Amino acid sequence: MGERNILLVEDEEYIRENLTEILEMNGYRVSAAPNGEAGLELARKRGYDVILTDLKLPGITGIEVIKNIKSFSPNTVCIILTGYASVETAVEAMRAGAFTYLEKPCGKDELLVTLEKAYEMHSLAVENVNLKNEIKTSCTEAILGTSSEIQAMRDTIEKVADTDSTVLILGESGTGKELVARALHYGSSRFNKPFVPINCGAIPEDLLESELFGYEKGAFTGAIATKIGRFEAADHGTVFLDEIGDMSAALQVKILRVLQEKEFERLGGRSSIKVDVRVVAATNIDLEVAVQEKRFRKDLFYRLNVIPIHLPPLKNRREDIPLLISHFMEKIAMRKKKYIKGIAPEAMNILEAYEWPGNIRELENLIERLMVLKEDGGVIVPKDLPDKIRSTKAEGLNLTSFTMPADGIDFNTAVDNFERDLIMHALNRVNGVKKKAADYLKLNRTTLIEKMKRKGLLDAVDSAEAVDLVES
Ligand SMILES: Nc1ncnc2c1ncn2[C@@H]1O[C@H](COP(=O)(O)OP(=O)(O)OP(=O)(O)O)[C@@H](O)[C@H]1O
Ligand SMILES: [Mg+2]
Repeated sequence: MGERNILLVEDEEYIRENLTEILEMNGYRVSAAPNGEAGLELARKRGYDVILTDLKLPGITGIEVIKNIKSFSPNTVCIILTGYASVETAVEAMRAGAFTYLEKPCGKDELLVTLEKAYEMHSLAVENVNLKNEIKTSCTEAILGTSSEIQAMRDTIEKVADTDSTVLILGESGTGKELVARALHYGSSRFNKPFVPINCGAIPEDLLESELFGYEKGAFTGAIATKIGRFEAADHGTVFLDEIGDMSAALQVKILRVLQEKEFERLGGRSSIKVDVRVVAATNIDLEVAVQEKRFRKDLFYRLNVIPIHLPPLKNRREDIPLLISHFMEKIAMRKKKYIKGIAPEAMNILEAYEWPGNIRELENLIERLMVLKEDGGVIVPKDLPDKIRSTKAEGLNLTSFTMPADGIDFNTAVDNFERDLIMHALNRVNGVKKKAADYLKLNRTTLIEKMKRKGLLDAVDSAEAVDLVES
């Protein structure tokens, strides 16, 4: 343990010297001040773990000293010394942030025991702050990425984490919505209270209500004992309502009420239950469209959408792909005790060019699969990659690797060529069967044929027409 420093503020010289002596004899390094103003000056200059201050002082009072110190040094533990410990002054002192008070004249043992507790309190407070900082950084840091999209998102998370505002996380599946929800929780002062995720889309509609709000014994057949719901379990913590877009109209009303009034009833219960929860919601559907189509309540949408956080799909931040890959490789190496050397540049190019419809989750699963299948110490090469991913490059449709000509480009011709390429590649994939090519391109067969006619492509694949007629 380092040296224990203490600030003593006491106007009466005799007491000040007496206490200083006792403290120094017991190993404390004491700074003594005869009034509050001088004490504050010392505190600002040096900082103390613990202060012991008289209540009645010639200038500002001991209470004011404490309030002031707490404002710039919240972890300093303050003890009040008072000649007449009335309940009122004690209450006032505690309210100002004092840890406890000592009545004068106070015995040496009582003083030392109290100080022992005060230092313990101080180290707990410091540990708590450190822990909190650690969690905070480890959580936003867990969201990897150097792309501007991710950096902006991390900034937003840091700004809103420690507020009670409702956050709506929007993003395709596998983009990291749950990771963001956790970062919001662990970055808030609710971090040591429960984080309760609930997947509104995965729980059958008739069970969801009792999951969320709980039920009283006898509320329905089978309710043999009272059960608390997720909202109650999350008291003082965070509820994460995942896939909120899938929630029924009836439940939407109930959620709205919890958000507005912070209260609800258990199923079959008569009394309202009040909870203090922070709500974070997520969805991968377009809620605005759902509102327009009257599948989602407008008032609930506005209530949830206080702070929207948009997660970009992975294909919009391809620059983050190598970083994510090495992160997952490390993680999987640790978990599976399997080490591989790395990924060959050609394979990396393909991975960077792929569309990643399943986003980061798909990337993580693929890396795991590649590593499991690879021999120890091996290098991932293009032929290790699944066909689906390898064909990205073969089709030559990777627009991010497309270099724009220096002297400009004719838009219509470029688009025309691109369409032609797409059609030819699709036809190649399916051995020229137009119906299959149309399915692959998600076009009507007639639309495809119309396009082919206009581009003069019909003759080129005429030989396949016979097959086409049989197939379609
Ligand atoms: N930026 C990131 N950095 C590191 N790992 C990430 C990042 N984003 C997501 N992940 C990881 O990818 C996986 C999928 O993320 P998560 O479960 O949060 O996605 P989701 O959007 O909730 O997906 P779904 O819609 O399928 O529920 C998790 O293992 C998560 O840890
Ligand atoms: Mg999720």
